[in-house]
Amino acid sequence: MKINLCSDSIKKIEADVEIIIVCNKDLEQNNIKDKKLLEDLNFKATDEESVFLPESKRIYVGCEENSYDAIAIAVATAMKKFKATKFKVAKVETLNDETLSVKALVEGSLLGTYSFTNYKSEKKKEQNKELIIAVNGDLKSLKKIAAESTIIANSVNKTRNFVNTTPEDFYPDVMAKEAKKIAKEVKIDCKILGEEYLEKNKMGAMLAVARASVHEPKLIHLTYKPKNAKKKVVLVGKGLTYDSGGLSLKPADYMVTMKSDKSGGSAVLGMMNAIAQLNLPIEVHGIVGAVENMIGGDAYKPDDVLVAKNGKTIEVRNTDAEGRLVLADCLCYAQDKIKDIDYIFDYATLTGACVVGVGQYTTGIMGNSGSLKCKAVKNSLQSGEYATSLPFNRFLKKTIKSEIADVCNIASTRYGGAITAGMFLDNFVYKENKDKWLHFDIAGPAFVESAWGYNPHGASGAGVRMTVQLLQNIAND
Ligand code: BES
Ligand code: ZN
Ligand code: ZN
Repeated sequence: MKINLCSDSIKKIEADVEIIIVCNKDLEQNNIKDKKLLEDLNFKATDEESVFLPESKRIYVGCEENSYDAIAIAVATAMKKFKATKFKVAKVETLNDETLSVKALVEGSLLGTYSFTNYKSEKKKEQNKELIIAVNGDLKSLKKIAAESTIIANSVNKTRNFVNTTPEDFYPDVMAKEAKKIAKEVKIDCKILGEEYLEKNKMGAMLAVARASVHEPKLIHLTYKPKNAKKKVVLVGKGLTYDSGGLSLKPADYMVTMKSDKSGGSAVLGMMNAIAQLNLPIEVHGIVGAVENMIGGDAYKPDDVLVAKNGKTIEVRNTDAEGRLVLADCLCYAQDKIKDIDYIFDYATLTGACVVGVGQYTTGIMGNSGSLKCKAVKNSLQSGEYATSLPFNRFLKKTIKSEIADVCNIASTRYGGAITAGMFLDNFVYKENKDKWLHFDIAGPAFVESAWGYNPHGASGAGVRMTVQLLQNIAND
């Protein structure tokens, strides 16, 4: 889909269809063209409510408030309706805050019209649709915002494609190949490290998780290094291309959707794709642990003790708590390889407990620095992603103690599972990086089995927008 900005008044712009975003309170005023008809149709202008008036070729869509979220949901709703028609060009006007409006309109329409049809036998042809946005303010600066939003939304959609792809078609080597493809396209560096490297470097935790799979684990390391970089940031992602649970096998119902356990790693790939194209003035490393957690005679077992790259020993009491094992070694790798880090963030569909705790639409953000967590939550919300901060405490920390090793991979309590998983990871964050680290548990929003707002069924690309926003903010510090 093409999106263009135009500084002509909406009336002058030629298009097949006009999209009219209506805030509830506008309905009471008399300046709405089809007021009577809308009343007869019982149109109340609530979120995700729309009507298409074929005679006047207008799509009216509800919008409950003047916010990014509401505008993006509104335009996504309207564009889905428009996409179902044979019309080619639609036009829409910005709302009061033009910067916010342009961002929401571009991202809302690109994210809202995404669909994943790779596994449908009937292939739909990509239709050449166009959306023209009528703006009042400075065209040049608004065009820049639209271009940035296009990069961001396309990167989110790339992440969604990876996550939605089946485990049969997307295993560690495929993930590595996709990383290489991105690196080539956006001209960044890419290193792929296999089993031999992991063995040589004593990454016993990641290797154990991978052992029963026919697919070799891959550690992906992407590097974006602009001249005169102001900061150095590391992004680490959990890339479990499938999580069967291992010998602590998941019940059948819980195993379905576990192709989405690569969401953290896929988000990191999407982030790198966006960051490089946006030319952010910071050095960014993207590290993904791509592994498949399976069963077999060779599988790692509950009762095993693993040795991670930093020499810490881990008692395995549940092979389904595998993401933290992969991340443990990836975090060590990152900190051993990259010196003088300013920030280190990890992304993972780590715990069902996080979904239970904060709901399926929200990311849980953890770490040792209250101010950094606050900054991340604020930027997430600004980017259109829901997030909240979850607190560590000394009592929960005691629940992951082990009698025979340094730490246990599950807690002795079933309460606070998202936090105890985060505190497990803290064991693999080096002293000098304690306050520079954040852990993002995206288990809820990464993959939802019903459409929500501008997110379709399945992968949402969670993590990409919030991180780009956070890094843009960090770059301006
Ligand atoms: N990949 C899962 C977490 C998950 C659950 C992601 C639901 C998305 C939706 C993770 O590897 C896992 O299985 N975690 C266990 C931890 C438990 C064994 C301590 C969980 O959450 O049940
Ligand atoms: Zn698991
Ligand atoms: Zn998992």
